[in-house]
Amino acid sequence: MLGILLLTTLVRPILADCECGYSTVIDGDVQAFTDLIETDFAHLSNIATNTDWVRQAFNVTSEKDRGSYGEMYAVDNMQTQVDPNSHVEDGQAKNGQPAGLSLIVKSSLVGDMVPVSEIDSNRTDILYGSFRAGMKLTNVSGTCSAFFWYFNDTQEIDMEFLSKEYNATNSSYPVNLVLQSREAAEDGFDAQGTPTFIKAYLPFDPTADFHEYRIDFLPGSVYFYADSQLLAEMDSEAVPTHAGHLVLQQWSNGNPLWSGGPPTEDSVTTVSYVKAYFNSSLAQRQTDYALRCHDPDAPGAVCSIPQTTATNTTPAGWFFTYQNNMTNNQTVSGQNGSGRTASAAAVLWPMFTVVFVVVGWELGIW
Ligand SMILES: *[C@@H]1O[C@H](CO)[C@@H](O)[C@H](O)[C@H]1NC(C)=O
Ligand SMILES: *[C@@H]1O[C@H](CO)[C@@H](O)[C@H](O)[C@H]1NC(C)=O
Ligand SMILES: *[C@@H]1O[C@H](CO)[C@@H](O)[C@H](O)[C@H]1NC(C)=O
Ligand SMILES: *[C@@H]1O[C@H](CO)[C@@H](O)[C@H](O)[C@H]1NC(C)=O
Ligand SMILES: *[C@@H]1O[C@H](CO)[C@@H](O)[C@H](O)[C@H]1NC(C)=O
Ligand SMILES: *[C@@H]1O[C@H](CO)[C@@H](O)[C@H](O)[C@H]1NC(C)=O
Ligand SMILES: *[C@@H]1O[C@H](CO)[C@@H](O)[C@H](O)[C@H]1NC(C)=O
Ligand SMILES: *[C@@H]1O[C@H](CO)[C@@H](O)[C@H](O)[C@H]1NC(C)=O
Ligand SMILES: *[C@@H]1O[C@H](CO)[C@@H](O)[C@H](O)[C@H]1NC(C)=O
Ligand SMILES: *[C@@H]1O[C@H](CO)[C@@H](O)[C@H](O)[C@H]1NC(C)=O
Repeated sequence: MLGILLLTTLVRPILADCECGYSTVIDGDVQAFTDLIETDFAHLSNIATNTDWVRQAFNVTSEKDRGSYGEMYAVDNMQTQVDPNSHVEDGQAKNGQPAGLSLIVKSSLVGDMVPVSEIDSNRTDILYGSFRAGMKLTNVSGTCSAFFWYFNDTQEIDMEFLSKEYNATNSSYPVNLVLQSREAAEDGFDAQGTPTFIKAYLPFDPTADFHEYRIDFLPGSVYFYADSQLLAEMDSEAVPTHAGHLVLQQWSNGNPLWSGGPPTEDSVTTVSYVKAYFNSSLAQRQTDYALRCHDPDAPGAVCSIPQTTATNTTPAGWFFTYQNNMTNNQTVSGQNGSGRTASAAAVLWPMFTVVFVVVGWELGIW
């Protein structure tokens, strides 16, 4: 048996792995996407030099805003804490902070503005895909942490976490799933339970640990998940049709109908990674795909995306970017994969994952 497994491994035709994309099962169907962005924030030493993500700086005045406070989006409110010797899914902390990208809301106002944070993907050509973020949410009341896809205020897919809504006494941890805009939501978009606004309840405390939050975006349908468990599906005319980008935020403007706050202490939401597998709206990237993808049915031509679940978080620490030749012709940030710092883990982890991939493949896990 072992011999047969070994033999199949050895005689498997050698191709550039994943040249025809990255696949996942969505609503029972296999969907393959041509492009990827993978950022391992927990091993990223300097967010300022990363080319996948752009920290935002802009001010929103209180008059323009729905709440009684303005917001000051500033690059200093985003910092990375590197975890050089251990892997993400170990949940290791350094200096008391979990490893990853901190999205900070400060309690001390600047004028009438709350210091808040937003970081956007540099790619704006994301049209359909599967987007995943490993996050540990703040437990400080009065902010909105958000992971979303955005084109404009009527083409937007949001997962929004309002920390004031958590109740540890009765283990109530909602997440607001919204198609369309934050502004609509803030304007008393009170139609909760309508097809494009669903308040889903997480089966865990999102402030206690990292979990994977995921949005799958297909023509006419959007799916939301936590640790690969489906929270909601929305099939609606409000599903976007235009290419857009990804956004990570933590903000507060005092609006009692939405973020609440401002918080009375500094508030930190930590992002350990983002993995986005998507199709590009750019003609250049579509041509690239046509040139590199010779036969989607050839073994290894399409790579199955490993799935993080509540009971198996190992895939959370696994990146195509760290494998040999699984991201050929993809745009990756930095010379070493997605910008990971050199460390013992950088050497040992790929060795482990080669075994992991082969065994997983043989066992049909992926
Ligand atoms: C990856 O695969 C491509 C296509 O087969 C090949 O041209 C390239 O040399 C490979 N790169 C490495 C580092 O093996
Ligand atoms: C993504 O692109 C691939 C390759 O062109 C295509 O086969 C697939 O249907 C596309 N997916 C969606 C959801 O458009
Ligand atoms: C965004 O990507 C472009 C290439 O498409 C690159 O030239 C630019 O430096 C990137 N921006 C940042 C802030 O990294
Ligand atoms: C936002 O306002 C603060 C305080 O007035 C100012 O220091 C900062 O430069 C402004 N930021 C931007 C992007 O204009
Ligand atoms: C919030 O999280 C911090 C840091 O993990 C912890 O020290 C504090 O006890 C938590 N507070 C509550 C109310 O859970
Ligand atoms: C968003 O973009 C779509 C497609 O271009 C357009 O129809 C719609 O009017 C835009 N919405 C806003 C608020 O600009
Ligand atoms: C838990 O408390 C929240 C308010 O904090 C309330 O909205 C919710 O209905 C409660 N859930 C249960 C099951 O009692
Ligand atoms: C939390 O839930 C408990 C039990 O349902 C309830 O007594 C309490 O009022 C809730 N707390 C808040 C802040 O809503
Ligand atoms: C992908 O390959 C094409 C040639 O087929 C090349 O022109 C393009 O620059 C490559 N893109 C990346 C991101 O490597
Ligand atoms: C990439 O990794 C090598 C070996 O681990 C290291 O020597 C080099 O400095 C790294 N380069 C960058 C840009 O991090």
